[in-house]
Amino acid sequence: ACEGRNIPLNKNWLDTWCTLPEACDGVLPQLLNYEVRSDDVFVVTFMKCGTTWMQETAWLLMNNLDYEKSKREAVLDRSPFLEDHGIVSGARDAMAYSHTLASPRLLKSHMPANLLPMKVWENKQKLIYVARNCKDVIVSSYHFLKKLGLWTGDNIEDYIEDFIHDELNYTNYWNHIVDFWRMRNEPHIFFVTYEEMKRDLAGVIRRLCDFLERPQLTAEEMAKTVEHLSFDKMKNYEKMTQGLKSQLPKSTTDFQFMRRGIVGSFKDELTPELRAKIDAWSQHFLSQHGLTEEDIF
Ligand code: A3P
Repeated sequence: ACEGRNIPLNKNWLDTWCTLPEACDGVLPQLLNYEVRSDDVFVVTFMKCGTTWMQETAWLLMNNLDYEKSKREAVLDRSPFLEDHGIVSGARDAMAYSHTLASPRLLKSHMPANLLPMKVWENKQKLIYVARNCKDVIVSSYHFLKKLGLWTGDNIEDYIEDFIHDELNYTNYWNHIVDFWRMRNEPHIFFVTYEEMKRDLAGVIRRLCDFLERPQLTAEEMAKTVEHLSFDKMKNYEKMTQGLKSQLPKSTTDFQFMRRGIVGSFKDELTPELRAKIDAWSQHFLSQHGLTEEDIF
């Protein structure tokens, strides 16, 4: 869909391989042909990169800072997960549901660039991309998928094997990130990292206001918004991850979507050997693109 549009993607962009959730079977043609509205905004991420945090942030800016509605309604009801046909919201057809929402819509997807609706590229829709460092994503997604029963292996060592061999949903992680990183200077792309959101959320919000063509927040609004979006506040919004809780296996009693919310949680969850293994894999991939992790994070 990007051919001829001068977007500097991976050489093999159109052939980029991606493992898809089983629940996506059959919905891909529908997704690729998804009818977008000119003021739709997409939030795209590899899983566990801070999607929900960004959805909350962008949704507030697009909805006159309606903090009360944001607490009252589940994020996936306000900002549907497009390819979700049973991944996290039971049997709901999220694309059909999205058409019932008023404009402007904020639409979430974990799809890699080449599997997003073709109109995203044809129309140059506004698209927010959040990236997060690989080792934290591995740790965060390990806990998440295991608790949800979506990965049924035994331990993190096996999980890392599956992750680096592209056997998990939405992998390859680096392909996903690098494609969007290369597009970061396109005017319709807002590229940001979870690490930057942690470092300077107010700065990210200022950049986002410009990107979304919304007025800058007053000092008072900014303080309130940053507080509303803090990990400690968000973890207490009961409705936020409503859809997820109903998907938990009966054996899971201690699931927390808002788990740690820090940069570097891998440091006390991965042994030096496991970190070295992931780093070697990352370096191998990135060196083929003339990149290092520091170029992106
Ligand atoms: P951890 O598992 O490392 O705690 P996603 O929404 O893409 O699934 O990402 C979930 C990750 O983002 C989780 O990471 C979660 O705790 C973190 N997160 C969600 N809201 C956050 C916030 N307000 N501040 C910091 N981290 C947040």
